Amino acid sequence: MRFLVTAGPTREWIDPVRYISNASSGRMGYEVARQALRRNHTVVLISGPTNLRPPRGVQTVSVETALQMHSAVLRHLPDVDALVMTAAVADFRPARRSSRKIRRKSSLTLRLLPNPDILADAAKIKRPHQVFVGFALEDSISATENALRKLKAKRLDLVVLNTEQTIGAERSTFVLITKEGGIQRLECTKRALAARIVRFVEETIGRDTT
Ligand code: CTP
Repeated sequence: MRFLVTAGPTREWIDPVRYISNASSGRMGYEVARQALRRNHTVVLISGPTNLRPPRGVQTVSVETALQMHSAVLRHLPDVDALVMTAAVADFRPARRSSRKIRRKSSLTLRLLPNPDILADAAKIKRPHQVFVGFALEDSISATENALRKLKAKRLDLVVLNTEQTIGAERSTFVLITKEGGIQRLECTKRALAARIVRFVEETIGRDTT
């Protein structure tokens, strides 16, 4: 199977030396890429800036901004069976990027514009055979209603609910919610969760084609 995985944060530049970003190590996405590869799948990894080395054998596309990630995802989407969207996409970008370093002053007001919702736009061109997995970062691990809302709005087959405690951690608590309404709570490493996600994609595609 062909996997498209996104990972890491995006970076939205204010001027040549400053940016707005999200807290994200990229580990979750890199683990999904590694586990999919281990199961002999083909992987395209679209990664924002991280300190991680991409697994060998994975086609890596490096991006910085949400707009770049948006076009990379939409470009590769028609060629894949599964999209796993772990990236922590910055929801806003500065309305304008100053070409010169902004000098220190007593206050600075930034106007921010919303970035596109990459998953929502991918959902508009989702093909029937494709499987989508998304994440929902919520204040509490019991915020299943919000996660379900995201699952429906973004036409996901599986949503992984997590909290800010997951950021940078090796293990955490996750709630997996499928579009059929199955709910499973897991306390595990990101590697184990990644293996679980790859298995879910295999089972869903296997079930749909038999
Ligand atoms: N996502 C995306 N594009 C964005 C923001 C998020 O594709 N601009 C994806 C994330 O990769 C994740 C899912 O959408 O798989 C949910 O992200 P999350 O930050 O939890 O939710 P949002 O949709 O941004 O909603 P809110 O900020 O209201 O929680």
